[in-house]
Amino acid sequence: MDPLRQPETAMSSDAALRAYVPVQGADVRAEGVSLSFRGARPAHVLDAVNLSIRPREVVALIGPNGCGKSTLLRVLGGLIPADTGRVLIDGEPVTGPDPRVGVVFQEPRLLPWQTAEDNVRFPMQLAGWSKARQAARSEDLLGLVGLREHAGARPGTLSGGTRQRVAIARALALEPSLLLLDEPFSALDALTRERFNAELLRLWERTGTSIVLVTHSIPEAVFLADRVVVLSPRPARVLAEIAVDLPRPRRLADMDSALVSSLAADVRAHLVDTTDDSIAMEEARLAAAAGLPPGVVPARRHAETEPGTPAWFDPFRPEGPE
Ligand SMILES: Nc1ncnc2c1ncn2[C@@H]1O[C@H](COP(=O)(O)OP(=O)(O)O)[C@@H](O)[C@H]1O
Ligand SMILES: [Mg+2]
Repeated sequence: MDPLRQPETAMSSDAALRAYVPVQGADVRAEGVSLSFRGARPAHVLDAVNLSIRPREVVALIGPNGCGKSTLLRVLGGLIPADTGRVLIDGEPVTGPDPRVGVVFQEPRLLPWQTAEDNVRFPMQLAGWSKARQAARSEDLLGLVGLREHAGARPGTLSGGTRQRVAIARALALEPSLLLLDEPFSALDALTRERFNAELLRLWERTGTSIVLVTHSIPEAVFLADRVVVLSPRPARVLAEIAVDLPRPRRLADMDSALVSSLAADVRAHLVDTTDDSIAMEEARLAAAAGLPPGVVPARRHAETEPGTPAWFDPFRPEGPE
């Protein structure tokens, strides 16, 4: 079968999950983090951002396009330094790319000439691990994301979702206590994405990491997170923090949809003043798919109240090569 057409299998088996030794999730603090880009197109991107993440907490960052979400994530991971302010992980400042942090970008960014296994081993090689330790760890990780049988495959032969799983396994390679996810599933089709969200929660329950997740999807943020942090248009400031007190473990099937809708409305209320193209387009697509002429009924109202439509279901994502 064409590998790009293979259905996604479960991300991880129960046995693989049980075999994984969880880490202690990080306690993360961003204190007054400000950052401007200089050069040809100078931009003030982060404006005194304060954020704290408790051990094992899942925090979703949501905000208009270009407001500085990815930049904030990079600062948290030590990939770029803040101009002022600082980031502390378990009380220790982050001063550069930090082994306590695993990062998954929107594009999987795998080395195309290397196998899935080699990609997962790459950070271990850089860290100078022995071959035997690399092999044992990568086997565990590929099992964790349900990819043992794809260990020898090169990224080009894998579907988008499978590549993203390799990227997740790689991000977990050095047992990070903080996982940063930058719109990790936005390129996947709606059904795959929904399933990956559920799988991500299983993975998180087992790995024990703290998670900061950037997403454009309000329903996704509400489904996954303990807290949704709404950022302002650039320069990003924290506009609101909405606690998501939904019980865990969470499954799509038994979410209290009224509660989910009211939380989603709360998040949206803080985003309404922003002029975000991507969120506005998503809303316009919702209206169109509901058969409504644009502007007749605000799409966000409709999405909240349409009976039988799970609030997190987003059938309007572009179809990826899944
Ligand atoms: N390396 C860079 N140099 C200059 N400007 C940048 C750089 N990276 C991002 N920017 C600018 O900073 C702003 C925030 O970018 P980003 O953090 O990627 O936003 P978001 O992830 O919220 O969409 C954008 O205006 C972007 O063009
Ligand atoms: Mg971004």
